[in-house]
Amino acid sequence: MRRIAINTGGGDAPGLNAVIRSVALSALNRGWDVLGIRRGYEGLLVNKPDSLINLDRNAIRGILHLGGTILGTTNRSDPFRFPVEGPDGQKVATDVSGKIVARFAELGIDALVALGGDGSMSIAKQLMTRGLPRVIGVPKTIDNDLRGTNVTFGFATAVEITTEALDRLHSTAQAHRRVMVVEVMGRHAGWIALHAGIAGGADVILIPEIPYKLECVYEKVRERYRRGSDFAIVVVSEGAKEAGQGELYKMGKDVFKEHAVLGGIGERLARQIEEATGCESRSVVLGHLQRGGTPVGYDRLLAQRMGCAAVRYLAETERSGMVAEVGGEMRLIPLEEIVGGIRGVDPVGDTVMTGRDVGICFGDEPSGTFLDRVPQVATEAS
Ligand code: F6P
Repeated sequence: MRRIAINTGGGDAPGLNAVIRSVALSALNRGWDVLGIRRGYEGLLVNKPDSLINLDRNAIRGILHLGGTILGTTNRSDPFRFPVEGPDGQKVATDVSGKIVARFAELGIDALVALGGDGSMSIAKQLMTRGLPRVIGVPKTIDNDLRGTNVTFGFATAVEITTEALDRLHSTAQAHRRVMVVEVMGRHAGWIALHAGIAGGADVILIPEIPYKLECVYEKVRERYRRGSDFAIVVVSEGAKEAGQGELYKMGKDVFKEHAVLGGIGERLARQIEEATGCESRSVVLGHLQRGGTPVGYDRLLAQRMGCAAVRYLAETERSGMVAEVGGEMRLIPLEEIVGGIRGVDPVGDTVMTGRDVGICFGDEPSGTFLDRVPQVATEAS
């Protein structure tokens, strides 16, 4: 191993710079060169002075605590569907994977450390079939939905930001005796809503893994007001679904994007709750605030553990794969285990049970029902 490259793909997540720094430092300390590729794979195709960055000690100084990524990122640099300008000036999705692999060889790159989510891992896997020598993935996403790893870096920061937002929304909801509906990110997984909702004392949490019935939500809100707590906090995942219905999208898929953009469920729910219960309701979309800014300590540590593990796997094994946190330890898992699906919340797992035990409504059963059948649940478990 003489020269490695590193890139960041897909949406940014707090901790990317901490990984970049840790990969670069542990590689430099082994006497290797480290090349940063700008904006996913774009830096290999576009010939600008800063398309490739030599990640020496100066380049990575002072970045540990910074949000975003010094390499830039994009969800439009899939080498198999890269936007190339056609003769009429229109961008056309083009397979440039051959060029990418040739550039790796030209630059003498022995391995790539790819920081990304399921999309980036699937691209890396396909590039290896075209001749890319080795790839070690590092699991990045605030959604925490990557298969094979218990946790991804960026998630803890998103949960922290969302929890703080819920604390702030409590006071204004209480002052106005309102229902505040908070729409959070997570795509098709409810991790952010579940963890922040419980940490931030939500009354209702709606996640994609548990389809909800509107009547259950209304009943929980009415119950709050009946009991004299005349405000309510509802946390809804952007990908949550009413039973029997699909997800709500605010923007369709374009030719270069893998995913259509989810959104709008929070406002729709606020209107439905107000109409059905008569309680004044407002919606807030936390959106990209959940991804921005400085990573929390947990993510900075996790990012560095993952980055250093990636370099150790390159140094000590011949294998490719993705670094994963399993049972508190780092493992290298095959890329095949990650692609083709996501890791959702376990709807009967301990965290959901915790929420139910403290009286949070998940929209699937009328308020109080869960407590009515607690003895039965306990018996089954024993
Ligand atoms: O996957 C991370 C994520 O932040 C999702 O939670 C969200 O749906 C999506 O990215 C938003 O993507 P974009 O950056 O294209 O707005």
